Amino acid sequence: MKTIKAALLGAGTVGTGVIRVFAENGAIISARAHAAVAIKTVLVRDMSKPRPELNGFSVTDSIEDILHDEEISIIIELMGGITPAYDYMRQALAAKKHVVTANKDVVAEYGRELAALAEENGVRFMFEASVGGGIPIILPLKVSLSANRITEIIGIVNGTTNYMLTKMHETRADFASVLKEAQELGYAEADPTADVDGLDAARKAAILSSLAFNTHIPLKAVDVTGIRGIKPLDIEYAKELGYVIKLLAIGRDTEEKGVEVSVHPTFLPQTHPLAAVNGVFNAIFIRGNAIGEAMFYGQGAGALPTASAVTADIIEAAKGIADGFAAPTGNIYVDKKKICPVDDTVSGYYVRLLVDDKPGVLGAIATAFGTSQVSLKSVMQTKREVPGKAEIVAVTHTVPHKSISAALDKLKTLSVVDEIKNVIRVEEC
Ligand code: NAP
Ligand code: HSE
Repeated sequence: MKTIKAALLGAGTVGTGVIRVFAENGAIISARAHAAVAIKTVLVRDMSKPRPELNGFSVTDSIEDILHDEEISIIIELMGGITPAYDYMRQALAAKKHVVTANKDVVAEYGRELAALAEENGVRFMFEASVGGGIPIILPLKVSLSANRITEIIGIVNGTTNYMLTKMHETRADFASVLKEAQELGYAEADPTADVDGLDAARKAAILSSLAFNTHIPLKAVDVTGIRGIKPLDIEYAKELGYVIKLLAIGRDTEEKGVEVSVHPTFLPQTHPLAAVNGVFNAIFIRGNAIGEAMFYGQGAGALPTASAVTADIIEAAKGIADGFAAPTGNIYVDKKKICPVDDTVSGYYVRLLVDDKPGVLGAIATAFGTSQVSLKSVMQTKREVPGKAEIVAVTHTVPHKSISAALDKLKTLSVVDEIKNVIRVEEC
């Protein structure tokens, strides 16, 4: 049996996970790849660090050793970040080596360019683990669902924030304490910005929407809000109104207005299939004109789940080499669809206001919404702890973003409105 050799760039959480999957499932991997597959070399940053898990591998701190090794035909990039990962992947593709990565930062920014470079060089650029960890979603979008016109893709694609929001629903704890807990459990990084401010989910939203809608969605086109502003009171109101709050990555292909892609905390009906996705789990819900609705669910992070997706890509690349067929990378984003401006996107909204508790207030507020063409679905008034004040919670019907912005501008000018406490999108089934 032919042996196909690979190099691993980065032996951290996922890199060592891949080594474990190879150790445990070597026979399955070879049988499915139609060849023996071996990791020959591992790139590390610091050669002096003891790494017992790398015993038996050739270890180097020089990318040149790998790029110039003609025996190595697959490069597995698991270092993370843009620099030097992006450069190394470009050089590997230019050297006609297949590249497998879990790096959403690079795929979101440079995926189109790297896929084109792979095609030019007759090799593959594969990134199944870049979204949803172990959940199969990239290949289903590229292959299994390719007969569909996909109109909507909604994902819970960040495990850290899903864990935090789930805890907030279960325990009424506030953002700061659930963040601390997520950090102690190792879910959130020491610098949790990319997770809690939505950037990690935005990168995944750009990757998923680009594939689903067959067009290039640049990261800067994703409208992003994270979960820092979610208060225990918002969670209470959500429950009372029949919703859960989830950080959703939403892509929609509206034929007339273009493609809209956003990441926002969202009121989701408790009956929606995504509402039951809790803790660190991820799920991606898709609507296609032939398949109808489909949902992909599983572990969106972790050493072995992520290594499962990475290793599947390695097997696929190795099988191509073993069987001698041309790399079917394809140009993954072909159309040039218009991006829908945020002002033209439509959604329902939850608006929580602190107001004076006196006659006529409700009328003034209803007028601010009404004259902005915002139709209200429900309004609740509750007396809160502040003397002489009440809280009003309004849920709107689906309205253009520009209309809710106009209504909020009017509400800010009303003397009876002390503060707009929160505004959160509402998704209907
Ligand atoms: P990690 O634990 O931080 O591991 C990264 C490894 O890469 C570290 O061992 C680091 O070395 C090494 N490295 C960094 N820069 C290097 C360089 N210039 N040269 C050589 N080695 C270098 O990260 P991870 O969690 O495994 O994540 C790897 C990738 O998978 C990232 O793109 C991440 O977004 C993606 N991903 C991760 C998960 C997950 O659950 N962890 C899930 C999905 C996708 P040092 O030990 O010297 O720092
Ligand atoms: N930080 C990410 C998460 C890891 O919490 O989901 C997987 O990309």
